[in-house]
Amino acid sequence: MAAAISIQGLTKKYVDVWQKQEVIAVNNLNLEVEEGEIFGFLGRNGAGKTTTIKMLLGLIFPTAGDATLLGKPMGDNSVKNELAYLPEETYFYDSMTGWDILDYYARLFKIPEPERSRRVQICLEKVRLQPDAWKRNIRGYSKGMRQRTGIAQALINDPKLLFLDEPTSGLDPIAHAELRDIVASLKDEGKTVFLSSHQLADVELICSRVAIIHRGKLLKQGTIKELVAGDFAELVVQRRGLSDATLGKIKEIAPGTEPGSAENMRISVAEVEKINAIIDIVRGGGGSIISVVPHKRTLEDVFVETVRKEDGS
Ligand SMILES: Nc1ncnc2c1ncn2[C@@H]1O[C@H](COP(=O)(O)OP(=O)(O)OP(=O)(O)O)[C@@H](O)[C@H]1O
Ligand SMILES: [Mg+2]
Repeated sequence: MAAAISIQGLTKKYVDVWQKQEVIAVNNLNLEVEEGEIFGFLGRNGAGKTTTIKMLLGLIFPTAGDATLLGKPMGDNSVKNELAYLPEETYFYDSMTGWDILDYYARLFKIPEPERSRRVQICLEKVRLQPDAWKRNIRGYSKGMRQRTGIAQALINDPKLLFLDEPTSGLDPIAHAELRDIVASLKDEGKTVFLSSHQLADVELICSRVAIIHRGKLLKQGTIKELVAGDFAELVVQRRGLSDATLGKIKEIAPGTEPGSAENMRISVAEVEKINAIIDIVRGGGGSIISVVPHKRTLEDVFVETVRKEDGS
């Protein structure tokens, strides 16, 4: 599959004029995003996510490095019609209506009537902005309505590649889930989404791959499946009455098992086959299983571990 985004050595240094020191916002970033995937771009506040997106879109110049978007060098005008950007803060003229805003962006993309009105309507429907708000001033819109308008604006040119910087921040749980599902549906339309988000549960649900950056540096990347690998289950087994031979068999399967108390023992294993084998051994030895509790690793676990390890805390 072709790369929608290919980043080589992208670096951005800012000079902090007050502190008279250099801030490396993005530090030698290398990344590939495939066409048709939703790619999660994760990092703490100030990690360098927005700076990266702005460089890719040609809004700020990199200090070093290069990238291609849809096969064209970043900043190339010929590809701009295929791109969309939802900034982390959307600024709209309060005296315009949602419809006017979209119409305005459609004009920027030189979409003629009647196609223009048709696209405006499709986009407003897609983000489920209620129709009675379409012709009302943005001034009276809630945060969620503004965010919907922002996403609709990003969709107006039917882009191939979207950069969404925190599309679901500050929304109520229902609006949040709706907008997350709208972002997920873009994949079904064959679009590529570069999604910067702190909502790790959402990212885990809708992204195929993610990258974690920290202080401008790429710490980890991979599929969600690869990153959250390492699920395990904890079995609590009644120890009393189990023979040494049975205990020996359990130890063969789960060597790290501690003896536990005289009454119970806890056994942690990762593979389903091993869990089943231990259950069989315990039952076969006349013992009983008290509980089997699965522990699922989440993207949040991986994120916290990765960042803490880097910080040495
Ligand atoms: N114009 C600027 N001048 C100086 N430093 C800047 C400038 N823009 C960003 N920075 C610094 O670059 C670093 C990265 O900022 P960036 O906005 O890319 O982070 P982010 O990952 O998007 O964070 P957040 O999750 O809070 O949006 C921060 O240390 C920030 O202070
Ligand atoms: Mg940001």
